[in-house]
Amino acid sequence: MRHVFFVVGCLLACAPSQQALPALVTAVDSDPAERIVHVALRAQVAQVRYGDGPSTAVWTYNGTVPGPLIEATVGDRLIVDFQNDLPEATTIHWHGVRVPNAMDGVALMENAILARSSFRYEFTLKDAGLFWFHPHVRADLQVRRGLYGLLRVRGHEEPAADHEEVLALADVKLQADGSLSEYLDDTSAMIGRQGPLALVNGAPHPVITLPSKAITRLRLVNTGNARYFDLSASGVQFLVAGTDGSQYVEPFLTDHVLLVPGERVDVFFRGPETGSTELISLPYERGHGTGTAAPVAVATLKFTAGTVSPVAGLPSAGSPVEPLAADGEPFRIALSEKSEAETVRFFVNGKQWPDVDRWLVPKGPHQFEVVNESEMDHPFHLHGFFFQVLSRDGQATPANRRVWKDTINVPAKSSLRAAANFDEAGRWLYHCHILEHAEAGMMGEIVVE
Ligand code: C2O
Ligand code: CU
Repeated sequence: MRHVFFVVGCLLACAPSQQALPALVTAVDSDPAERIVHVALRAQVAQVRYGDGPSTAVWTYNGTVPGPLIEATVGDRLIVDFQNDLPEATTIHWHGVRVPNAMDGVALMENAILARSSFRYEFTLKDAGLFWFHPHVRADLQVRRGLYGLLRVRGHEEPAADHEEVLALADVKLQADGSLSEYLDDTSAMIGRQGPLALVNGAPHPVITLPSKAITRLRLVNTGNARYFDLSASGVQFLVAGTDGSQYVEPFLTDHVLLVPGERVDVFFRGPETGSTELISLPYERGHGTGTAAPVAVATLKFTAGTVSPVAGLPSAGSPVEPLAADGEPFRIALSEKSEAETVRFFVNGKQWPDVDRWLVPKGPHQFEVVNESEMDHPFHLHGFFFQVLSRDGQATPANRRVWKDTINVPAKSSLRAAANFDEAGRWLYHCHILEHAEAGMMGEIVVE
């Protein structure tokens, strides 16, 4: 059994204006049948307030930022009746979810869903985990305006916890009148849009009340366009139990948890007896001086004696992820950037999307290699499939860190080799999940036949 010792440092008093963590709105399942989850999503303009400020015009799913949390169990059929009431076309991409190609919500193969029209998404949920959904049309702007929602798919065996929270991390930049700052200056074009105001479930710096002396599970997702959240809380050791598409066979302790845009992490910890501690995002150097920024206040974790009778302990083991055998030469995906005379452009194999050469593969397991030739880190995301990282810069991934990923950081001037089982035919995108980079060319397509 593992013991985690807590020293609750830096007890910051909660400012009176600090709001409690807003509850996520659960999407209403209109179908009473057991294995069917049938929900309605409407993309619409709405007004929200980020903290105490004036109201902000945002784009939402069902009127809130984040949009609803869809709850399901692995094996369920998910049906989403989607209505687009935005002034422009959009789609819903189910980030990390293994879907048939026509349900992937990219404007490639289905036409985008035009303003005032509708579309039914329907697929079976093959995997347990925390997923999220967002548009794939002008994603840099549409996501930042507020279009993102959550999907929690429970497995048949979940690690025990006394308390669980789903936390969607994001950030915004607001002008004095409350409106969103959307202007893409040179710095934001280079590093992506980052706002100074970090949001947790749509609230700036909320108080998250957790049970003391009990096991809390935090299911985290980074929905930000560009910010790397490197989370830490004085006195808290996090047990990392899982990530995008699987659990770790050996959960591991750490005092900081990095989430790159699009990525999910599943952490557990035992709350201290009482008190509170600040959850902060540490500066992270991902190129072009980003590491010199100040830490960002994310939330206050407040521990109170609750009514829960605590479960025995932290999860000790996940089921092992078998290595995927994939022979043959890896497909090479080289990422690069070029900034010249007022424009920053991003490339895959020397070309910009949609001119990037396609990779055609027969169905089955294949290897690929992501080579980051640029001066900054890029979070690489693959649609439709999970992959295993086989090695980084030639160093093999230890067996106890083998997991299924769909989004992974590729640090500047580094490379990784990965394998995926491309078992679903179709046209599948891969791209940098700094959405400004994807929109400026860093995106490619894999055709599985
Ligand atoms: Cu979450 Cu193609 O992206
Ligand atoms: Cu990038």
